[in-house]
Order: sequence, then structure tokens, then C-alpha cells
Amino acid sequence: MSVATTETPIASSVQAFLASPRKMLINGQWVEACTGRTFPTFNPATGDVLTHVPDGQHADIDRAVKAAREAFERGPWRTMTPSDRGKLIWKLADLIEAHTEEFAQLESLDNGKPVTVARVADVPLAVDLFRYMAGWATKIEGNTIPLSVPYTPGATYHAYTLREPVGVVGQIIPWNFPLLMAAWKLGPALATGCTVVLKPAEQTPLSALRLGELLCEADFPPGVVNIVTGFGETAGAALAAHPDVEKVAFTGSTEVGKLIVQAAAGNLKKVSLELGGKSPSIVLPDADLETSIPGVSNAIFFNHGQCCCAGSRLYVEKSLFDKVVSGVAEQAKKIKVGAGMDPTTEMGPLVSEEQHQRVLGYIESGFQEGAKAVVGGHRRGEKGYFVEPTVLIDTTSTMKVVQEEIFGPVVCAEPFTDLEEVIPKANDSIYGLAASIWTKDFSKAHRLAAQLRAGTVWINCHNIFDAALPFGGYKQSGWGREMGHDVLELYTEVKAVCAKL
Ligand code: NAI
Ligand code: MG
Repeated sequence: MSVATTETPIASSVQAFLASPRKMLINGQWVEACTGRTFPTFNPATGDVLTHVPDGQHADIDRAVKAAREAFERGPWRTMTPSDRGKLIWKLADLIEAHTEEFAQLESLDNGKPVTVARVADVPLAVDLFRYMAGWATKIEGNTIPLSVPYTPGATYHAYTLREPVGVVGQIIPWNFPLLMAAWKLGPALATGCTVVLKPAEQTPLSALRLGELLCEADFPPGVVNIVTGFGETAGAALAAHPDVEKVAFTGSTEVGKLIVQAAAGNLKKVSLELGGKSPSIVLPDADLETSIPGVSNAIFFNHGQCCCAGSRLYVEKSLFDKVVSGVAEQAKKIKVGAGMDPTTEMGPLVSEEQHQRVLGYIESGFQEGAKAVVGGHRRGEKGYFVEPTVLIDTTSTMKVVQEEIFGPVVCAEPFTDLEEVIPKANDSIYGLAASIWTKDFSKAHRLAAQLRAGTVWINCHNIFDAALPFGGYKQSGWGREMGHDVLELYTEVKAVCAKL
């Protein structure tokens, strides 16, 4: 089978952006790495080089942290009113929105995702996130607290809390939603008045660098946001370990999440983590199959399965199992796989050669352990990192494909008899990021939602995100919640002020 090739013409602004090696943003200046070294970023549909970006190292992280520290302690950012901070964030959102097509194309070229999806999902969600967080800038409040202090009888106190920015923040993000992950991280940090060193993923640095240009255009003071491109083992590790960074926020693999925790121990910086998942989609016997079949298909195939909350384990009540599995297989067959820049493409390539190998390796391990593919199971095409949408059956709970995060378009489907069986099965994972329940019985759905050990439970939907809805994981899926008002806790310290009157 071949892959689609007719492509949307690359916008002239995007061509210009890719025409020369990019620089990175430190203290409001576009700079090269201290070593002058760069590394290429690739188009995963072809394997061709798009452009080069600076190979940031320890010394570059040092420079960026210094700039962030300076901006936090002294610059105009510190004295700016919350209202002005909110306006700046809103202005950034407007600028991103005005450049929607450019961002959609950069995401498609760098990550592989369909440009049509980036236009309606990645970019608008990023815009919305910044607008939501702009509103919070003026609403970060403490409390007044009546005291009783038993050992100072007769004394009166005036006590209150202040919610203050945590300080200089390091943010390390992945490649699956490059712009959106930057927004999830930057939005709350800026709303609360922190300053930031952001390290995008080495696979997809381009949209973050373009965002850096818009941060300058919006007039964020120099040093408030610094963007250092580089690899995880060098730039990322230096940022996580840096003694002058007060907090690190990370999204990526559970394996690296554990390294971040160790690196953060040196100065006990605050840590928040958004890690892997192995989320169940559970189809109950009374589910509406017309919506559930496309729903559970989309749960796994959206973004080529490269979602931390992908519905990668499908549990179907046994009387419906064959019907749902063949329905999902039909959906999988219909998905148009091709280059992200082809406007008819519904599923693009995986992000990199490494991920391509990893996902194909998982499928192979499934076969070796006895799983069967109802559809898919192979690479597609000769060029680029394409994988066929794949549905595996005859899997058991001990198989690697059922236990480990595959991060590709591969779902493992298993039948179940009743809720007593499926609840422990659904919870039988080191992860606890998300789950979805498909049923017309809402009473049952809400009871089941309470029993699932997951940070998000969707009912008759999956992959629904909103800036107002907190997102994060139980168990090894992470620490803390992003988005919603919950995220503000990750970026603030509470100060108790107590005065004897
Ligand atoms: P990764 O966890 O290595 O990379 C994510 C980010 O962490 C990147 O910016 C990377 O440069 C940085 N990083 C890597 N090593 C680091 C270190 N030692 N110190 C500090 N930062 C470091 O993920 P990778 O290798 O790209 O993908 C591997 C697997 O991770 C995927 O197959 C998937 O299972 C999972 N993953 C989960 C994501 C999520 O959204 N939760 C996103 C991306 C990957
Ligand atoms: Mg890695």
C-alpha cells in the first residue's frame, strides 16, 4: 500500500522561516548555542531535513536561567499589574490566532500530523488556553484567616495569605502536540507571574521558536520566556538539575519523569509531571454503537495514537465484542494515511524513525506473545514513518502490548463479562491518566467513573480537552494537574502573613 502525496503548498512565511537555520531566544535576543553547534529537524513524512536549530547545552541553559532570574527579580515583569500581564497573554493569543495557518503548517511539517487537524485542534486549543489563563492573571488571590492562638489569650491578630509566583520555572515538553504543550506550560506560568526557560522536544522545535517571535512581538519583557532548543540528555537534564530553577514542569515518558525527579532533588525544586498512559475505553452492553464505534476508534487513532491519554486498551462486553471489533477495524481501514500536508490525509506518519521502530517493535512483540491483528500490523509505504492503524485481539493482561505504552495507532481489544471483571482489569496498570465509558445508562456510568483510578474519565466521548478542565494522572501517569484553576497551584507559593494588632 502506498501513501498519499498531493500536498498543500507551503505558505511563503513558513518557507521563509525554514530557509535559514533558526536561533533560540535568550533574554529577548535570538542567539546561537555557545558552541555554535546546530542539529537538524526532520519532516517525518519524507525523512528530509526541514532546517537546523541550535544544539543548546549546559552553558546555554545557564544563560537562559540567568536571564529568567533577572527578569523575575528586577525587570518590569515583577512590577507589572496583573491586568497588564493578562493583557499581554491575551495579545499573544490574538497573534497566534492571526498566524493559525502558519502554525498549522509548521506543526504538520515538523511533527507529521495532518495540517487539517492542526488548524482546528492544536492551534485553536493553544489560543483558547492562553485566553483562559489571561483571565486568571487578575484572580490569583489569598484568604483572610481568623486566628484563635490558644497560648496568647486576649491578643488580636490580622492574618492573611498571599499567593505568589514560584519563581524561575523550567519547562520540558514533548513532540506530540508541540505548540499546545508549550501553551499548557507557558499559560499558567505567565498568568501567575513566573519566568520561564522552555525546552521544546528535539523532534519538534519549530513552533516553539515561532511562538518565541510572537512573544517578542507582543512585547513580553526580555527574559520572561527563554526558549532553548536541544536534546533531553544535555539541555533537558541541565534544566531539570539547575540549582537556580525553583520548579520544573515536564511532559513526556514515565522513564524520563523519574530522571527529572532525581535531578530535581539537588535543590528540592517543585516538580510536576504529565507522563505516560494506557487508558481503557470500556463499552458497556447498552452502548449506542453508532457513536461508540467511531468514538473508541478516534480514542486510539487520533494523532496517530501519539496521545498520552490514547484509548489503547479496548474492553467490550462480550455480546458486543465481535460487532465492535469489526466496526473499529472498518474505521481503521477507512482512515486515509498520508503526508500531513496532504489536505485529504487523516493520519500522518509517526514523529520519528525512533518512534517508528518502537511502535513496530511493540506490534511484533504482540504477535510473538500470541496476539492477532484484525487489521493493520505493519509499516505502510517505503518512505516516511507510517504505520497502519492496527487492532489486536487475543491479547492477555500480562502481554507487553497491554501493559506498556505503545504511543502509536495500536489498540488491544478484549471482551469482558460484567463490571466486576472489567473494573479491576481497567485499573490493572501502572498508569492512571484517563478512561472512557460508553453507555446509555448514565447512572451506571457515574458509578463506574468513581471506581476508575484515572485523572480524567470521559463518558460517551474521549480526547475532549478544555482549558478549564484539569488534566493529569493518578499513579505513574504523573504529579499535579494542568489546566483549569488547579494548575495555578503548581506555579504559586502560599505565604501566610500574620500581624499582632
Ligand atoms: P522523552 O520523555 O524522552 O522526551 C520528552 C521530553 O523530555 C523531550 O523534550 C526530551 O528532550 C526531554 N528529555 C529526554 N531525556 C531527558 C532527560 N534526561 N532530562 C530532561 N529532559 C529530557 O520521550 P521520547 O523519547 O520522545 O518518547 C518516548 C516515549 O515517551 C514515547 O514512546 C511515549 O511512550 C512517551 N511519551 C509520552 C508523552 C506524553 O504526552 N505523556 C509525550 C512524548 C512521549
Ligand atoms: Mg527519549
